[in-house]
Amino acid sequence: IAGWAALAAGVLAAPAGVSAFLRGGPARRRPAVPPDRLAIARRVNLAGDEKITPFEEASNYTNFYEFSTAKRDPTVLARDLRTRPWTVTVDGLVKRPLAFEVDELIRLFPIEERVYRWRCVEAWSMVIPWVGFPLADFVGKCDPLPAARFVGFTTLYDPKQMPMQNDGVLPWPYVEGLRLDEARHPLALLAVGMYGAPLPPQNGAPLRLVIPWKYGFKSIKSIVKVTFHDKMPKSSWSKVQPGEYGFYANVNPNVSHPRWSQAKERRIGEGGKRPTLMFNGYRDEVQGLYAGLNLRKFY
Ligand code: MTE
Repeated sequence: IAGWAALAAGVLAAPAGVSAFLRGGPARRRPAVPPDRLAIARRVNLAGDEKITPFEEASNYTNFYEFSTAKRDPTVLARDLRTRPWTVTVDGLVKRPLAFEVDELIRLFPIEERVYRWRCVEAWSMVIPWVGFPLADFVGKCDPLPAARFVGFTTLYDPKQMPMQNDGVLPWPYVEGLRLDEARHPLALLAVGMYGAPLPPQNGAPLRLVIPWKYGFKSIKSIVKVTFHDKMPKSSWSKVQPGEYGFYANVNPNVSHPRWSQAKERRIGEGGKRPTLMFNGYRDEVQGLYAGLNLRKFY
C-alpha cells in the first residue's frame, strides 16, 4: 500500500513534463465550444474584479484521474462519457432512499451562475463561472435524519468508460465527503454547468461538487451516489496519503503541504504568482464553520 500511495502522490505532484512523458505525447485537443446554454435565474459574482479564466483553459487543463493523470488528456479521453440517462441515488441516514434523474434535478431548483475562485492543492488557480444549484437545496430534498452529521459522494465506477479505473493510481470509485453543516453552507454548489453551458465531460459532467473555499480535490466529479452518515466518511486522497490530504482541505496559505508551500498560487493564463487567500477569499462567509477547530491539525 505504502508503495502505491507514494506513487499516487508523486503523480499528483509530477510536473507537466513528467506527465507528458508518462502518457507518451500530447493529446489532440478538440475545440472546446459550449454546445448549448442553460436557463440561468440569477448571477452572483464572488471573485470581485478578478478576471474570468478563458473557457479554453478551464476545459483543457483538468484533473480527472479516471481518465488520465495528465491535465490535457481528459478533454479527449472523456469525450464520449455517457451522461444520459444519469441517476443519482441517495441512501444512508435519510427518511427513505431516493433516486433522481439528473434532468429532474436541473428542473427542481432555480439554476444560478456563481463566479468563484478555484484553487487546486497543486497551487494553481482559476476563476470560473459555475452554473448549478445550492447543495443545501439538494440536501433539503434528501430529508436526512437528525443523526446524519456528514454526507459522502461517489463518482461513477465504470472501468469500460473510465480507463484509469483499471489502474491502481487511486482506490476506485473516487469518493469525497463534507460535514453536513459545510454541505448546507450557501456557497456549496452542485454544478451542472460552467460558462453558461452544461459541464463538459472532462469537468465532471453531468453533476459535480464545487466547494470554493476548499482545495479542488474535494469537488468530486460525475456524482452517482450521495450517502448520509453519522461518522466522517473516507475521502479518496486522504485514504492514499493521509499525511498530505486531509478531510477538511480548506484553502489555507499558512499551512504548507508537506512537499510545497500553499502561500502562493499560479493563476492559469496569467504570469507570476499571486498570494493565496485564507479560505480562498471566502473567510468572512465560512470561518464560522470552523470556530475553535485547529486548522493545522485538521488540514
Ligand atoms: N473527481 C473525480 N471523480 N476524479 C478526479 O480525479 N480531481 C479533483 C476534483 N474532482 C478529480 C475529481 C481535483 S484534484 C481537482 S483540482 C478538481 O476536480 C479539478 O476540477 P477541474 O478539472 O474541473 O478544474
